[in-house]
Amino acid sequence: MKNALQCPSLFRAYEKHFRVGAAINGRMPADPAYRELICRHFNSITADNQMKPMFVMDRDATLARGDLSHAAVSFRSVDSLLSFANENGIAVRYHTLAWHNQTPRWFFAKDWSDAENAEPASRDVMLARLENYILDVMNHVNTCFPGLVYTWDVVNEAIEPDQGGPGLYRTRSPWYRTCGEDFLPAAFRAARKGQAPGQTLCYNDYNAFQPVKRDAILALLKKLQAENLVDTMGMQGHYVMDWMNVSLCEEAARAYAALGLKLQVTELDIHCNSDDEEHRLKLAQLYGDYFAMLKKLSAEGIGIEAVTFWGVTDADSWLTGFRRETSYPLLFTRDKQAKDAYDAVMKAAE
Ligand code: G3I
Repeated sequence: MKNALQCPSLFRAYEKHFRVGAAINGRMPADPAYRELICRHFNSITADNQMKPMFVMDRDATLARGDLSHAAVSFRSVDSLLSFANENGIAVRYHTLAWHNQTPRWFFAKDWSDAENAEPASRDVMLARLENYILDVMNHVNTCFPGLVYTWDVVNEAIEPDQGGPGLYRTRSPWYRTCGEDFLPAAFRAARKGQAPGQTLCYNDYNAFQPVKRDAILALLKKLQAENLVDTMGMQGHYVMDWMNVSLCEEAARAYAALGLKLQVTELDIHCNSDDEEHRLKLAQLYGDYFAMLKKLSAEGIGIEAVTFWGVTDADSWLTGFRRETSYPLLFTRDKQAKDAYDAVMKAAE
């Protein structure tokens, strides 16, 4: 294995096709080795957490403001990441504006109460809070860092076949509970008001390759398109080595693109619970096949804006905690060596 800090750049290898990005955490910009690694290999970043509503919404300031339809926001964690990107000429994808998770529960309460059983706010109030929040974030980012963000995850993970009735919506989401499916077009309408020229609006979801979920997402995207509200489908791409199926990913990607949308792979990783040779080579094979598929689609004229890894090295992956076993899902090892999977991705670019 080779030192990833000395290997040819991933993003330069794919320059003709799409951006190559990574999700970074709040500590990386202060770590010289991470800074170097990120700048060498990625020309797009997003935050694994810092841009999410729970890090932006400010309850004390909201209570002090005393407006029941407008939460106050604070951009300390967002700005430090955007400054890092700006100083290093790296483009940013903003993840995420409307999500059921990592949004404070008080945001959904009638009187901003943080109690578990607080009375929910009405549909109209929630729709007003949603628009205000989205416009506050977009106006701040576009004013303070013009030209930096190229795409916004407007709504994240709204379809969940295990919970869905008609439309397969995630019915246990506080957004769905307060507003029904109306929160989706409302969020995108607000984002259309707040977007700057050149930015795309993205619907983002996981397991977007699975036929049942894919078809529900396609139906949702068509509804949004009827009002010209969405530009890009974000296929998250959290895979597991044992069941990842590149052909199904390709079929789904083609189906989304056939609607006339751009594509992004937004959260790529492949869970793998060993780094012995057999697993390393299988991971390499899957990554190589996957990137060859994406490159083929791009060469056919399908617009792929970016492919973003969910983490930089195996040490940063959420999967080790989530799967309760050590995971080796990315291209770089914990000590920043380039794996066989890196070689396979570079080879697919040739
Ligand atoms: O903020 C608290 C902190 O106050 C507390 O001390 C600490 C103790 O564990 O937890 C902190 O919260 C953690 C949070 O990340 C912020 O760091 C949570 O425990 C942890 O579960 C949470 O995980 C994040 C997860 O989203 C939450 O759903 C992962 O880091 C992040 O990688 C993951 O990212 C999601 C995408 O946004 C959407 N798609 C799926 C993807 C993977 O789950």
